[in-house]
Amino acid sequence: MIAAELDFAAWMQAVQLRIEGVLERTLPTDEHIPARLHQAMRYAVLDGGKRVRPLLVFAAGELVGADPARLDHAAAAVELIHAYSLVHDDMPAMDNDVLRRGKPTVHVHFDEATALLAGDALQTAAFDSLSAHVLADDPRDQIKMVNLLAKASGSVGMCGGQGIDLYSVGKALSLPELELMHILKTGALIRASVLLGAYCGQALTEAQMSKLDHAAKCIGLAFQVVDDILDCEADSATLGKTAGKDAANDKPTYVSLLGLATAKEKAAELQAEAHAALDTFGDASAGFKPTRLKQLADFIVARRS
Ligand code: IPE
Ligand code: IPE
Ligand code: MG
Ligand code: MG
Ligand code: MG
Repeated sequence: MIAAELDFAAWMQAVQLRIEGVLERTLPTDEHIPARLHQAMRYAVLDGGKRVRPLLVFAAGELVGADPARLDHAAAAVELIHAYSLVHDDMPAMDNDVLRRGKPTVHVHFDEATALLAGDALQTAAFDSLSAHVLADDPRDQIKMVNLLAKASGSVGMCGGQGIDLYSVGKALSLPELELMHILKTGALIRASVLLGAYCGQALTEAQMSKLDHAAKCIGLAFQVVDDILDCEADSATLGKTAGKDAANDKPTYVSLLGLATAKEKAAELQAEAHAALDTFGDASAGFKPTRLKQLADFIVARRS
C-alpha cells in the first residue's frame, strides 16, 4: 500500500506517478500496427489530467486494505473510459473543443476518424484491463466489477448523461433534470471508481457498500458542479481546456440555473454529505480508513482546475 502516513499532496503525487506507469505499460506502443491509432490513444491518455478517478480507486482501496497491484488495473480501467469520454466529448459533433489537458484535442492533432477509433479502442482497453487480471478473491465479484463499469459507462450511465447534455442545449432544465444529467455524465464513473476500489479488498457489508455508494454519489455530483463553476470562473491556461465553453454552447449548468454563489453552496453541501457518509466507517483504528476519500472529496471541491 502507498504509505498511509504520507500527507495528502505526497500521496496524490505517488498515486499519479504510479498510475502513469500502469497506463504507459497498458497501452500498446506505436510499434504496433496501426501506429497512428496507438499514437492517438497514448496522446489522449498519457502525461495529463488530474487522475481523479484512479485516485478514488486507490482511496477506496485504502478503505478496505486492497492489494495495490489489483487497484492498478481497476484504476487504469476507469481512467481509460474517462479518457475515451473526453476524446469524444471534444469532437465537433459534441462540444467542439480544440484544447484538452493543455494540448490540441485528439481530432485536431490527428483527425476525426482517428479520434472516433481511439475513443472506441480506449473503451475496450478498459474492459481488457478489468478482465485480464485477477482483481477479486471471488471470480463472481470480478464479473460484478466488469458489469459495474459497463453500466456506469453506457446509456444508463456516462453515455446517457452525455446524451441528456446534448439534447438539452438551449433548454432550461429543472434542478432535478440537471442533477440527473450530472449524476449520469460524470457521477456514474466516479461512483464506479469508488466501488471498483472497494471490490478489490476486504468485503464490505451491504450497509457499508450503500454508505460508500452514497458518499461516491455526492462526490460525483460535486465534481461536476465544480466543473461547471470552473468553466465560468477559471481561465483556459489554468484549466488546460477552453474556459467559458458552457455559456458559449448554451449548456444548462449549475451556474446557469442557480448562479455562482448557490452553485458553490451546493458543492459544499455535497462535500459535507460525503464526509458524513464516510464518517460512519469510524476512524482508522476500527480497521477502515476513510481518511483519503475524505481528503479527496475536499480536493475535488477546492480544486482550481
Ligand atoms: C473533465 O474531467 C470532464 C468531466 C467529467 C467534468 P477532469 O476534470 O477529471 O479531467 P482531467 O482528467 O483532469 O483532464
Ligand atoms: C464532460 O462534461 C463529461 C464527460 C466527458 C463524460 P463537460 O463537457 O463539462 O467536460 P469538459 O468541461 O469538456 O471537460
Ligand atoms: Mg460535454
Ligand atoms: Mg466538454
Ligand atoms: Mg465542463
